[in-house]
Amino acid sequence: MRLKRTHYIEKLNKEFIGKEVIVSGWVLRRRDHGGVIFLDLRDRTGLLQVVFEEGLDPKIHELADSIRIEYVISVKGLIRKRPPGMENPKIPTGEIELVASDVEILNTSKTPPFPMDEDLSEVSEVVRLKYRYLEMRALDGLKPFIFRHQVNQTIREFLNNRGFLEIETPFLTKSTPEGARDYLVPSRLYPGKFYALPQSPQLFKQILMVAGVDKYYQIVKCFRDEDLRADRQPEFTQLDMEMSFVDENDVMILVEELLAYLFEKVLNITLDTPFPRISYEDALRYYGTDRPDIRFDMKLKELSDLFKDTSFKVFRSVLDSGGVIKGLKAPANFSRKELDELTGFAQEMGAKGLAWIKYNKNAKSFEEKWSSPIVKFFEKPVLEKLEETFNPLEDIATFFFVADREEIANSVLAELRIHLAKKLNLVPEKKFSFVWIVDFPLFEWDEEENRLVSVHHPFTHPKEEDIPLLETDPLKVKSRAYDIVLNGIEIGGGSIRIHKKEVQKKIFELLKISPDEAEEKFGFLLTALEYGAPPHGGIAFGLDRLIMLMLGKKSIREVIPFPKTQRAQCLLTGAPAEVKIEQILELHLLPGWEKKKEN
Ligand code: AMO
Ligand code: AMP
Repeated sequence: MRLKRTHYIEKLNKEFIGKEVIVSGWVLRRRDHGGVIFLDLRDRTGLLQVVFEEGLDPKIHELADSIRIEYVISVKGLIRKRPPGMENPKIPTGEIELVASDVEILNTSKTPPFPMDEDLSEVSEVVRLKYRYLEMRALDGLKPFIFRHQVNQTIREFLNNRGFLEIETPFLTKSTPEGARDYLVPSRLYPGKFYALPQSPQLFKQILMVAGVDKYYQIVKCFRDEDLRADRQPEFTQLDMEMSFVDENDVMILVEELLAYLFEKVLNITLDTPFPRISYEDALRYYGTDRPDIRFDMKLKELSDLFKDTSFKVFRSVLDSGGVIKGLKAPANFSRKELDELTGFAQEMGAKGLAWIKYNKNAKSFEEKWSSPIVKFFEKPVLEKLEETFNPLEDIATFFFVADREEIANSVLAELRIHLAKKLNLVPEKKFSFVWIVDFPLFEWDEEENRLVSVHHPFTHPKEEDIPLLETDPLKVKSRAYDIVLNGIEIGGGSIRIHKKEVQKKIFELLKISPDEAEEKFGFLLTALEYGAPPHGGIAFGLDRLIMLMLGKKSIREVIPFPKTQRAQCLLTGAPAEVKIEQILELHLLPGWEKKKEN
């Protein structure tokens, strides 16, 4: 390189007028005004207009003439004030330009597959992911990753100041029970044996507590082979934390302080702490989900009692078969077409139908207040009670009802609530509503497997006062777990852990994990717990999700440098890819490898 960079573009301003600098970067735009060539040059930090004037050394002018979009160049020249009227207030260097005296072409470039100076959201994701490096290099393309860098550094700064140690844990390890499928890595040295990539560092961080680390964190990749969605990737990043000698309040307060510090520092937003806490039961009761979006109200109401004597056969049969009727109120009027669409939406979400009643507070008569094909089934006192239940009522409102098994009524209404809020613009933008979900049950019943399963993972501590219930009524036992939800998305979860072997044994028993199986799967943890394990607990954040929400993006793919598609492919590298037969043989993956070994 002949022309060695002297300055990043962002450093250049009016104070440099008259000074000579060398800048290096890529050509975003090129304009040729008959002899005068303008280039918009950008580096990681900014954009600068470069002018090659007439009267320049013909060799240099010729070189400049050959420069095309996305060529990599170094330019030497004097900074000068732009002529009056030529300023560009949209960029920080808009008042100055570089008058080139010399240029070096460091590399050429093919024409990029998409424009580099426009919003790329219309470009297909397939193309963007294949050329991810170009998307990143495009104007503003690095912004999410620079932001992500700041988030990581700020988190580290906060936790380091609080005495946390950042400690790494292995990727080639044994299965961790977070409830997803494992990614397996075959062992060459031990035919027929496999490593599992960690679904989380859960067991290692607990062992680090036994090791006396006291306060641990790690910004770490986790691997889960699950069906993907906008907020799920096969490999994703956790901010993982664990602490000794703490209870749930200590963890929750520390997390609130961390998030308040982070939002203040990188977004200049002051969060309201402490965050509200809602029990799992209430979350389901009022929002139909344990991931409530509390930026808006529109709570669900249980209406089975209200309709207990109804003659409406749809409601009647559901109530008679042990189901429930739940409903919500939208502060709006809907056309018949919209109501049909909403019914379709509810059915897609799993409802058998969606009953609705329109309400007009100021109607002349009681009858005119209510309109719906089903209103004829309801007596006046029932409607009055409905009015009372949903007090305070707007002048115009619509009630929606789902009659079904409780889980279905909840899940359908939870989706409908979000759908309606978006449709009616009730969701405030740029608002961050955190909420803790607490008092989870320790177990749930798995119909398919016909046994209890852990709601979180099997190392979650039961509530102290519920321990006797483990013997008598395990489904009633609550756990010392907490999830943190931001704007309707679960961004983290954790718990106080079991640190006594007897309790852990009892839990395995209830989960129908035999002592042999427990020994085989987590024997190393159980052994560690016998050597003076301190009481401990922690939490892990889905860092991709948190950053996605902080930046107002719709998918975590937008904040992951090299994400996989919904079908778990990496379009940049082409992974997963076929491998040579020799590699497969070496890993003993073909049927019959055992025989081959004997020969
Ligand atoms: P959990 O399984 O709840 O807890 O994971 C913690 C957080 O990680 C995020 N997350 C994901 N993000 C993107 N893609 C995925 N496939 C994905 N799966 C999970 C979520 C989730 O809240 N070891 C425990 C934590 C603990 O108990 O301390 C754990 O991993 O935001
Ligand atoms: P039907 O008697 O099936 O014509 O239903 C009458 C109304 O009740 C229609 O608006 C249906 O969408 C609605 N409906 C049907 N099943 C349910 C249900 N399980 N919960 C709520 N509404 C329902």
